[in-house]
Amino acid sequence: MLKKTIKVNGVERMVVAEGDKSLALVLRENLGLTSVKVGCGTGQCGSCSIIMDGKVIRSCTRKWKRIKEYSQIRTLEGVGSPDRLHPVQMSWIAYGGAQCGFCSPGFIVSTVALLESNPSPTREEVRDWFQKHRNACRCTGYKPLVDAVMAAAEVMRGEKTMDDLIFKLPEDGRIWGTKYPRPNAVAKVTGTWDFGADLGLHLPPGSLHCALVQAEVSHANILSIDTSEAEAMPGVFKVVTHKDVKGKNRITGLITFPTNKGDGWDRPILCDEKVFQYGDAIAIVCADTDENARAAAKKVKVELEQLPEYMSAPEAMADDAIEIHPGTPNVYYIQKIAKGDDTKPIFDKADVVVEGDYYTQRQPHMPIEPDVGFAYENDEGKLVIHSKSIGLHLHLYMIAPGIGVEPENIVMVQNPTGGTFGYKFSPTMEALVGVASMATGRLCYLNYDWHQQQTYTGKRSPQFTSVRMAATNDGKLLGMETDWTVDHGPYSEFGDLLTLRGAQFIGAGYDIPSIRGEGRTVCTNHCWGAAFRGYGGPEAEFPSEVLMDELAEKLGMDPLELRYKNVYREGSTTPTGQDPEVYSLPEMIDKLRPKYEEAKKKAEQDSTDAIKRGVGVAVAVYASGLDGPDTAEADAALNEDGTVTIYTCWGDHGQGADMGSLGTAHEALRPLGLSPEQIHIVIGDTSKAPNAGPAGGSRSQVMVGQATKNACDQLVAAMKKPEGGFRTYEEMVADKKELRYYGKFTAPANDCDENGQGNPFCCYMYGVFMAEVAVELATGKTSVEGMTMVADIGTVNNFLLVDGQIYGGLAQGIGLALTEDYEDIKKHSTMVGAGLPYIKDIPDKMDIIYVETPRADGPFGASGVGEVPLCGPHPAIINGIYNACGVRIKELPARPEKILAGLKG
Ligand code: FES
Ligand code: FES
Repeated sequence: MLKKTIKVNGVERMVVAEGDKSLALVLRENLGLTSVKVGCGTGQCGSCSIIMDGKVIRSCTRKWKRIKEYSQIRTLEGVGSPDRLHPVQMSWIAYGGAQCGFCSPGFIVSTVALLESNPSPTREEVRDWFQKHRNACRCTGYKPLVDAVMAAAEVMRGEKTMDDLIFKLPEDGRIWGTKYPRPNAVAKVTGTWDFGADLGLHLPPGSLHCALVQAEVSHANILSIDTSEAEAMPGVFKVVTHKDVKGKNRITGLITFPTNKGDGWDRPILCDEKVFQYGDAIAIVCADTDENARAAAKKVKVELEQLPEYMSAPEAMADDAIEIHPGTPNVYYIQKIAKGDDTKPIFDKADVVVEGDYYTQRQPHMPIEPDVGFAYENDEGKLVIHSKSIGLHLHLYMIAPGIGVEPENIVMVQNPTGGTFGYKFSPTMEALVGVASMATGRLCYLNYDWHQQQTYTGKRSPQFTSVRMAATNDGKLLGMETDWTVDHGPYSEFGDLLTLRGAQFIGAGYDIPSIRGEGRTVCTNHCWGAAFRGYGGPEAEFPSEVLMDELAEKLGMDPLELRYKNVYREGSTTPTGQDPEVYSLPEMIDKLRPKYEEAKKKAEQDSTDAIKRGVGVAVAVYASGLDGPDTAEADAALNEDGTVTIYTCWGDHGQGADMGSLGTAHEALRPLGLSPEQIHIVIGDTSKAPNAGPAGGSRSQVMVGQATKNACDQLVAAMKKPEGGFRTYEEMVADKKELRYYGKFTAPANDCDENGQGNPFCCYMYGVFMAEVAVELATGKTSVEGMTMVADIGTVNNFLLVDGQIYGGLAQGIGLALTEDYEDIKKHSTMVGAGLPYIKDIPDKMDIIYVETPRADGPFGASGVGEVPLCGPHPAIINGIYNACGVRIKELPARPEKILAGLKG
């Protein structure tokens, strides 16, 4: 132990801490300064940034023993507070800088240090600063952060006032379609928004810290588990194994289709007979401290019989491969598509045929906040599970039989969440903390480190896709043939549904009268496949969008004009044979065309012998909803003081479920003339709010929005007096009117048939993308210098939110195109190793052009937004690379060595 005095936020503090403890943890745990967030824990993300002796440092990398006495430390708590915001905090709110908000304290502290040393930075200097200090953000695409810094600098220089940054309600009082800041923004920019690990610092006495014993091989039989040595370690309360699990010890993968050859009960909570992937949980050590739990976890002895590891779909499909789940073939689901006439005669007679094979990789989600959660029994005897779940009711039903508790005796709560991007569509640790709490009778808390986050949460499933297209000489598409293979890892959850996406979205956006194809889901021993923003869309649309470029070249047509000729118009149908709900793609391309022509000229002018520049385009379409009659619920209740409370389980990845709810409810309640502050949002607790369904498939604004509107409409109708005006709370009570209304919405849609045909979604989102790229010929390195997206996501609820979703999606699309992967379990288990884009990897030039076509089935005309911005950037970039230097990359990511090989070839 070391005693030191340090000056923190202007005050001298005496601190006693272990010498090897990181300064980040000393500040958090010893001093309660929880604005200091720990993301990576290894100096790669900047979420723990503080100012020490005038310099920005990453406090996770400094050990307490190396901190000088009387060091001067500034954390976000010393920058401003909720009632005394610093200009940087105010501008972070105004520009939507805090999405999930996990990175915000680190960025804001870093910005304060920048502006104190350079009051008038250029945008490029701001970007250099964040790059140098490794401030990483996975949500915002960085551009809004630079906007916020520039605005804060103006205030600090006295050229603008704080008041200029405050949102002003328009005269009509309407917040729909504005940049009204999200309700939790103040908490996020002041570091007072308590994420799971912050809540973990304030647990009641007797709570236990959990550490997992995890597999370090990818496929093995378990011969024995010996916990005796671990049980005897200091502070250990219990080591929980599969023998302690009261239920089936399986998480159901919710098989969607009867033709799936699996039964969905394939994922153990704690491994009993087999290990199916690296990182699988074998035991949970529950101890008094995190350190003691982790130390004891190393002492659990697991005897294994190694089995062959099938780390990709082709390996698991080989004739001699054994069944990973005995009794279920490794290829466990087949999805066909058959639209229109047989394609064979069409291809035989077509003027032009093009074809290609493509691969999209195992993209990691890389939230900055690692997975965290806890469970306990509440005073009613119910098991309460807190986690980052964005599908509370869904997860409740997926884990209840496995842990052995009736669903009505489980309460699921979503903690403030530092980004998920879809990985939390899967239960991750919910069942683990649940069984630990049941086995110990204590509150059990589990916080992954970032290595565990990366290695033991799901990833985007890699996909191998072959596509053929037939067309006339003048570029009219006649038919398409497809074949796709989804490597879904060892667990089946939603694997069949993901495979259906290939039928629905390969070739989406174009009127293709005849399609034939087949896809399959394959069980492997690599990381399990989880939902990731776009869910099948980026995998499906990459092949068809690159092949469209190849077709354009073969026909001698401009790639944008070939697309223009074939996009949906009246009379067109989608790959599933559905009439699109709007036909905005021609207008969207018209809007892009002048920018495209200009960009092409500029690329040509700016190309040199060393750096070639090019422009690529792509069209993308994705749905807002889950297949078929998707349903959501929400409640609206009138309070005694005349305010209204919305009860909702709208899941929040960080995108802004609170603002989505507030914007929708405020618009629906406008007859009552309430201010936004008079609408309260109670969110993310299954004991308080009805089933909204999971926050996936960009469904929330449409489905939960409609349910919210429905509840509000009922409340407004009940409050309406026959003679005009609205009843007060007292009048409602006197007239014996209900005060709380249950809203529900069911999408007017139906499931696809076995040939992938049907009207599966009521609302879609449309995007046209343009990437401006530069390729350095000596190294093969690609830089994206500009991204433009023309977006039709219906009418817009909140522009701060949807701008943020689009910038963030484009940034993840750039990562998908160029750097991100989780293939090599060792190399790709860190943010840097897995290719997380930092600010200099993302262009500052990102433009959004909205075409707001109201949707008949969306609340006030809105569709979703989150997925489509990640469905088109990667083919646009790959097409841009070809345009720049003539190298066609078909296997992502397009690392420099691949481009270099193409250049040499
Ligand atoms: S840099 Fe310290 S937590 Fe990531
Ligand atoms: S807002 Fe930056 S990581 Fe979420």
